[in-house]
Amino acid sequence: MVKVNSNYFKLKTNYLFPEINNRVNHFIEINNNINIIRLGIGDVTEPLPKACCLAMKAAVDEMGTDHGFHGYGPEQGYDWLRKAIAYHDFQIRGCDISSEEIFISDGSKCDTSNILNILSNDNRIAVTDPVYPVYVDSNVMAGNTGNNFEKTHYRGLIYIILNAENNFVASIPKERVDIVYLCFPNNPTGAVATRFQLKEWVNYALDNDSLILFDAAYQSFIQDPNLPHSIFEIEGARNCAIEFRSFSKNAGFTGTRCAFSVVPKSLNGNTICGNKVNLWELWKRRQSTKFNGVNYVVQRGAEAVYSHEGQVQIQALTKFYMENAAIIYNKLQDIGLQVYGGKHAPYVWIKTPEGKDSWEFFDYLLKKAHIVSTPGSGFGKAGEGYIRLSAFNSRSNIEVAMDRITALDFDI
Ligand code: MLT
Repeated sequence: MVKVNSNYFKLKTNYLFPEINNRVNHFIEINNNINIIRLGIGDVTEPLPKACCLAMKAAVDEMGTDHGFHGYGPEQGYDWLRKAIAYHDFQIRGCDISSEEIFISDGSKCDTSNILNILSNDNRIAVTDPVYPVYVDSNVMAGNTGNNFEKTHYRGLIYIILNAENNFVASIPKERVDIVYLCFPNNPTGAVATRFQLKEWVNYALDNDSLILFDAAYQSFIQDPNLPHSIFEIEGARNCAIEFRSFSKNAGFTGTRCAFSVVPKSLNGNTICGNKVNLWELWKRRQSTKFNGVNYVVQRGAEAVYSHEGQVQIQALTKFYMENAAIIYNKLQDIGLQVYGGKHAPYVWIKTPEGKDSWEFFDYLLKKAHIVSTPGSGFGKAGEGYIRLSAFNSRSNIEVAMDRITALDFDI
């Protein structure tokens, strides 16, 4: 009989968001006609930017003509999109990134998992705790960890604890690691890194020959112009970092699917025998073999993000969600809850009231206020005692949700 990948049996919990959905669906089943407001998964709610819709409509029409039809596209994405990204997202911010270093994909979740295909199984890997669960679970599935211990931790991974004392920004580990996952603005805590903090990480990576896997899916929510949006704004990062970006949150593409990874040509790794290998070459090889590119229509939609109208429209979207984040932050702070994040990220990270753990407070908000949150413990052991609220929703839902929560009678 066929043998399966037994690493999957090391996974101790279901993937977080389907687990939340199961609980919510069960609650809805036994409580008819209930008006649930979902502030759990960070899924956008506002319509796609007009510029993207128009570009996609035009692309569909083009595909229906003899001269405008497109079959397989380049696996790494069309040049016109890669050039627009390299220029607008990197070069005008002073980053030395060329269009050839941009690889278009259908999502950062896939990219942050697939990157493991080109990396060896015997790297020392560091993740933060709390952490976006995909980084951990994909390493477990790939056989890069030992067994699970203490619920969400796996042997073989190095956990960097994020807490209120370190402002939820990962501190440099004392030991050497080969790979570290960093996410700024941070999912789930909403924390953001300064230029100085990123410089410290780049210096660490250069000194230790480590690779930084930098997830910048939420960069568009940064409000302070002095804060870095990309690891490549830091000198030396071309030799130690890969960045992941997405159109999901800035342009509402969670359902449309378009993202990209940035792999500098100057980035190298070693074979087991110590021979130098170029990571860009490997990633290109991986993508050309296992991926046929994002469809033409969607890439045209993504390209429109960089038009004048597109930029105006995505800035309006970001502003809208950040106003939601401010409403959540202020209302909850006003009733005495300890609140974090929400200033440069669409996530607000909230300390649970005295005596309630993350899932208890999740259940409490679901039952008493019909609000779906995300329990912090689902992001790791150090997330216990927190919940995350997402600012991705309509203004009226955010306002109703805050009215419901602030009307509750809980001890803080
Ligand atoms: C989240 O809620 O953490 C995100 O929506 C997950 C994702 O982007 O995959």
